[in-house]
Amino acid sequence: MILVTGGAGYIGSVTVELLRARSENVVILDNLSRGHNAALPPDVPFYQGSIGDRELISRIAREHDLEACIHFAALAYVGESVAEPARYFANNVEQGIALLDALLKAGVRRLVFSSTCATYGEPEQVPISEDHPQRPTNPYGWSKLMMERIMESYDRAYGLRFVALRYFNAAGATVQSGELHEPESHLVPNVMRAALGETSAVSVFGNDYPTPDGTPIRDYIHVADLGAAHILALDHLSAGGKSECINLGNGQGYSVMEVIETARQITGRSIKVKIEARRAGDPSRLVADAAKARKVLGWQPAYPDLVSIIRTDWEWRMKLHGKQISA
Ligand SMILES: NC(=O)c1ccc[n+]([C@@H]2O[C@H](COP(=O)([O-])OP(=O)(O)OC[C@H]3O[C@@H](n4cnc5c(N)ncnc54)[C@H](O)[C@@H]3O)[C@@H](O)[C@H]2O)c1
Repeated sequence: MILVTGGAGYIGSVTVELLRARSENVVILDNLSRGHNAALPPDVPFYQGSIGDRELISRIAREHDLEACIHFAALAYVGESVAEPARYFANNVEQGIALLDALLKAGVRRLVFSSTCATYGEPEQVPISEDHPQRPTNPYGWSKLMMERIMESYDRAYGLRFVALRYFNAAGATVQSGELHEPESHLVPNVMRAALGETSAVSVFGNDYPTPDGTPIRDYIHVADLGAAHILALDHLSAGGKSECINLGNGQGYSVMEVIETARQITGRSIKVKIEARRAGDPSRLVADAAKARKVLGWQPAYPDLVSIIRTDWEWRMKLHGKQISA
């Protein structure tokens, strides 16, 4: 049985879908602070509660034969973490430690962890490989880096083996699940909201960066490719593989304006843009060197290009929209 924390969230629910397609037994733990009840498959055991609740995790372990954990649960807004660092360190680190301790107590020593390119901070060179210095520029990035260091110590002392996957920008949808955050801070869903007329325009934070069109460049990775990498990471650990930190991106950068232009073409809608001030701490270019994921995990993205990533999001949103209109 695999414990998926944060399984009611965006990436967690897609990974649950993929695990079930592989006939894996899954149990979900989520406090629904940011996730959706509707994302939970009715036939998967679900515990509503927090990763900091050691008693609850011990109970889950007693009621299910846990062999591994995929740990997605976290608060994940950069801006919010700057305003409320205490909340971020309590939720992501303090509660994260409680989860690790309870897992070890239950004999679970395999963990796949959601880390982030935000642990690198302002890059010294691009593409960013795993040995790039890690100097986060916000509490969110620090909370993830702290968890990486804690897991390394737990590996040495207690034999916890982990794969920390440092995602770049998750985007896209499967037929069943897509990205719905409230508030939404990610570019692709916000572009789609503007395309659907749910907002009047998409905000672009700064157009004077040292990039060809002046807007920041990011590496977008399809959520199903992310999910698939988690399953490969579990396989790596089950086969006795050692702990690793691995980037997940496509190694290809697209500017904010390129994302908007691609969305205009796919949706056929005019998408208005509102240029706003730069956000503090937004680097101009974040692109992964993703060679290690291919080499160590044998990962091959199925949606390596922006067009297919955006198309899947649009198709899912159209379906959702249609359902809401007819409901
Ligand atoms: N979306 C991205 O582009 C991206 C990039 C890098 C890293 N990540 C990381 O991936 C993970 C998943 O991201 P997402 O976009 O699916 O986020 P999400 O907010 O959609 O999902 C996170 C889930 O965790 C739950 N949760 C939060 N704190 C909890 C706690 N203390 N106990 C139990 N449940 C809790 C929330 O209710 C939510 O369902 C996060 O750890 C995030 O930091 C995401």
